[in-house]
Amino acid sequence: MTEILEPTEKNLLKAAKAIRQNGLVAFPTETVYGLGGCAFSEKAIVKIFEAKKRPRFDPLIVHIAEKDDYSLLCSIIPSKAEKLIEVFCPGPLTLVLPKKVSVPDIVTSGLDTVAVRMPSHPIALQLIKYSKCPIAAPSANRFGHVSPTQAEDVLSDLGDSIDFILDGGPTTVGVESTVIFVTEEETILLRPGGIPIEDIEKVVGRVNVKMKISKLLSPGLTKKHYSPKTPLYIYEGNFDKLIEIDVNGYALLTPDSNFAIESTIFSLSQDGDVKEIAANLFHQLRTLERMDYRAIIALPVKQNGLGHAVMDRLIRASTGIVKVENHKLIFIDR
Ligand code: TXA
Ligand code: MG
Repeated sequence: MTEILEPTEKNLLKAAKAIRQNGLVAFPTETVYGLGGCAFSEKAIVKIFEAKKRPRFDPLIVHIAEKDDYSLLCSIIPSKAEKLIEVFCPGPLTLVLPKKVSVPDIVTSGLDTVAVRMPSHPIALQLIKYSKCPIAAPSANRFGHVSPTQAEDVLSDLGDSIDFILDGGPTTVGVESTVIFVTEEETILLRPGGIPIEDIEKVVGRVNVKMKISKLLSPGLTKKHYSPKTPLYIYEGNFDKLIEIDVNGYALLTPDSNFAIESTIFSLSQDGDVKEIAANLFHQLRTLERMDYRAIIALPVKQNGLGHAVMDRLIRASTGIVKVENHKLIFIDR
């Protein structure tokens, strides 16, 4: 039976003991909830992949509680990485660096690099400290589903396959960490996330953004992920056209509450504040999939700061795009 625990000192010790005994504990971070197991225990890592139904070729992030522990897991720490650690750790930044041989291959899916992050959430930090080992943790959702931002989301996705869920309430950032690959020569963005790329560039100069979001918008180019059970379509085109037509039966997901239309509107923020949008996104998607809509029509979000990560998640969650033509909704699957 999975037990939800209040994050008391006693319960943190209980959860840490489970980690030391190859068990699994879901815990809050500032981004989303993670499904944790001891990074040095192959037995625990196998359980993580099985609980999530995650393919073994998709490597895990290892979480640490001290900046110094980067050197426990990574064989080389380029000077750019050191600068990033100095500025952004603890926080929602994951660095992919050459791994030490002591990091089990199953954690990194056989790659010679390891993804490492020091979260800033006090419960996560305390759990790692008490466990006395780095904690490998993917997001605590079923593979492909929306990431969990509260304890109940973890319970509904992963049911009985974990020992404990530490309940720290809703997470604050709401989208996962920014993942970047760093060498002496270059910095490559692997996943936009909680630290905006603009902030990273202020510290290390130009970041190579391999996947341009504009490219992602063309259907077919991205893998589906983060998907709610109700199909989600991204609205493309002039908003005025949408206002003119009947969108009964559809949920409109809007970045702010200024969209005047007679329909069912779910605003991700009051006035377009991107931090608020990010914090509400996954919870709103999980709420909507439990309702009876034919589809979710998501209006695009401005792609600056955290908006980059929000748009990335919306695109990956999407079944396709929707347009208005001749006063009708036209759905185009990708
Ligand atoms: O905010 C977060 O990052 C959350 C919390 C729990 O820390 N974790 C999370 O983990 O989002 P996950 O497993 O859902 O996503 C990890 C991403 C995946 O896209 C994975 O492919 C990538 O990081 N990754 C992990 N190790 C890697 C490596 N060695 N090289 C390249 N990408 C890697
Ligand atoms: Mg994930």
